[in-house]
This record gives sequence, structure tokens and C-alpha cells, in this order.
Amino acid sequence: MHTCLQKIFIDELKDILSAEEQIVKNLPAMIKAAEFPALKIALKSHWQETKAQVQRVKEIFKIMGVKPTKKFCKGTHGIVEEIKEVIKEFSESPVRDAGMTAVAIRLEQYEICAYNGLCTFAKLLKLPRVLKLLKENAKEEIAAFKKLTKILEKDLTKIITSEIRVEAPRKKIAKKLAGRKSHLAFKSRTVSAVKRKRVRA
Ligand SMILES: [Fe+2]
Repeated sequence: MHTCLQKIFIDELKDILSAEEQIVKNLPAMIKAAEFPALKIALKSHWQETKAQVQRVKEIFKIMGVKPTKKFCKGTHGIVEEIKEVIKEFSESPVRDAGMTAVAIRLEQYEICAYNGLCTFAKLLKLPRVLKLLKENAKEEIAAFKKLTKILEKDLTKIITSEIRVEAPRKKIAKKLAGRKSHLAFKSRTVSAVKRKRVRA
């Protein structure tokens, strides 16, 4: 077995273990913040999947005969922090849902790339059992990525744009009414002035 390759593989494995555990820890806050039902369900289901992914990664460590230690994944930490910022900054749904989903999609892409690298190493190291477990995790990440992208593109953005369309005519009507009010006020002022003139005459 190529020892340098094995070393980098274990290093990446430690990184993904940290990533998955950070996600398990932080997904409940996202689930709580999500309001769109399909998003809440998708996040809940991915939370369960992520817990199973942690177990698969730990199983790989066992196969490799290495202690499952973590190497803090700064990339995941950064994206998780961005999700927290969106939750804090946007109180209103569906804008907050859309913001959270957009960042969560980035997180899924990040994980997919990490698993792609790990699969490449596992192939080179000729580790079929490990490769199978990694592919299972990667498959779930790809499915979660597709599901969240669909929710963002087909549901959330449509809700947001339809709200904008509803708001726009309302504003126009309000403008028209404001114009009519000032016109009526002007008309009544003119009538009063004419009446005053007549009284004086
Ligand atoms: Fe994951």
C-alpha cells in the first residue's frame, strides 16, 4: 500500500468526520428556522442521513485500523457560520428560507467534492469496502443537493417573486389613491375659495 497516499487519505477522512459532525450539530438550528414545509422535511431527513454518514466514516476508520480522530474542517465551519448569519439577518420567511437553502446547497457541493476526492484515493488504494461506504455517503449528498436546489428554484424563488408581483400593483394603487386624495383636497380648496369670493361680492 502506498503510505503517502494512505496518509493523505486518512487526513481527508479526519476532515470529513469533522465536517459531518459539525453538520449533525448545526442542522437542528436550520430545521427550527425553516418555515417552508418541504424545506423543513428535507433538512430533517438529511439530518438523519448525516448521522448515518458519521457512522460510515467511523466504520472506514475501523477498516483502516486507525483511531477515528478529527481534524477540524475549517471549510464546513465557514459555511455553517454563513448559515447562522442568514438566520440572524433575515427574520422573514421565505427570504430567510431561500437564503439558508442557497448556503446549504454550497455546503452539499463542498461535501460532494470532499467525497469525490476520498473516492479517488480509495480507488487508488484498492479499498473496495471503503469505496462502497464512501459512495453511499456521496450518493446521499448528491440527492440532498438536488432536493435543496429543486426547493430553491421551483418553490422558494417562485414564492418570493410572486410576493413581489403582488406588492407592486398594491404600491401603484396606493400612489394613485394618494394622487386622487390630493386632487380632491385641491378641488375642495378651490370650491371654498369661490364660495368666499361670492359671499364677499
Ligand atoms: Fe453529509
